[in-house]
Amino acid sequence: MRSAKIVGVGSYAPPRVLTNQDLARMVDTSDKWIMERTGIRERHIADDKTAASDIGLEAARRALKDARVKPEELDLIIVATITADMSFPSTACLIQDRLGAKKAAAFDLEAACSGFIYALSVARGLIASGEYDTILVVASEVLSKITDWEDRATCVLFGDGAGAVVLKPAKKGQGILSTYLRADGGNWNLLWLPAGGSRIPTTRDSVDKRLHYMKMEGNRVFKIAVQSMTAAAIEGLKKAEVRVEDISLLITHQANLRIINAVAKRLSLPPEKVFINLDRYGNTSAASIPLALDEAAKRGRIKRGDLVILVAFGGGFTWASAVIRWERISLKSYLARFGHRLSSLATRRKRKY
Ligand code: ACO
Repeated sequence: MRSAKIVGVGSYAPPRVLTNQDLARMVDTSDKWIMERTGIRERHIADDKTAASDIGLEAARRALKDARVKPEELDLIIVATITADMSFPSTACLIQDRLGAKKAAAFDLEAACSGFIYALSVARGLIASGEYDTILVVASEVLSKITDWEDRATCVLFGDGAGAVVLKPAKKGQGILSTYLRADGGNWNLLWLPAGGSRIPTTRDSVDKRLHYMKMEGNRVFKIAVQSMTAAAIEGLKKAEVRVEDISLLITHQANLRIINAVAKRLSLPPEKVFINLDRYGNTSAASIPLALDEAAKRGRIKRGDLVILVAFGGGFTWASAVIRWERISLKSYLARFGHRLSSLATRRKRKY
């Protein structure tokens, strides 16, 4: 069976930034508490008119440009989100239309903060089976619309953002080496949004009781998140037949700096092998991993041939990992490798004329 590789990555966050100082003026909290307990300094917040498809579309365009793939070449679009524009049609269909991806099938996938890795795994399987050749995976979240801005225990945590990757076939042993997905619905009510579905439809009462906002038992989620993410990383490495020492970069779901550090410590990964950007984005659920992956790639933190491990945990509960051999060459590492040749060529040319 063939494998699948990432041939392009892109991300986007709405321009408006909400700092911890801004939050301290809205609820009883402080920059000190938020920094010490979470590591978050600021987050991006969409305006009233912006929905998941708007920011997902921008991330998708950037990933397609990076991959040099035209929308018409796409066979499938999968969007991971818990903040879809509407119950139906899917956000993937809305993005498919606005991209002009005429021959692409499209569907949404919901696995909360693990959604990106779940979608990556589905896309990888469809490419490996030969069903499709070119797949766009988007993770887009506008969590600010389901955040209770009067609840200090949750409103300081979340932000809005989107990330996307384009996948194409690769030879066996290249690209995505393993994906590992798990779920435990037994803890569904530790992190959830009660109303708006078929269990508690939208009524005046559900709105008055603030049931359309995320609820979380942070403390209990924290402990399970650390255990599950560590287990997902270990199982993913086993499946990929890779040692933890060979990993160049760990990119986890960006929920809490203390969770990320605890997972890295349990895996014996030093801080320089851990990518963190939650200080500037907060928890963007499914979007957090592709947002971080894009930044890591663009900043030259991942070089061609590097092994990267993605690890997530989220509502459901769901948890997942993916081990990837990075096949893309970043502009930064390209310049580092070949820049001297380009500059000596330029000098020679100058001398000539
Ligand atoms: N500012 C000031 N004080 C606060 C705030 C705040 N924003 N929020 C809570 N507190 C108070 C609490 O009331 C409590 O006070 P008390 O001791 O007087 O009762 C105290 O701070 C400690 O509260 P805890 O909830 O125990 O704080 P904790 O250290 O657990 O941190 C946090 C809370 C940041 C939410 C943490 O538990 C966490 O990150 N949990 C995991 C989140 C996560 O990973 N989610 C999964 C993915 S998200 C998804 O799927 C959408």
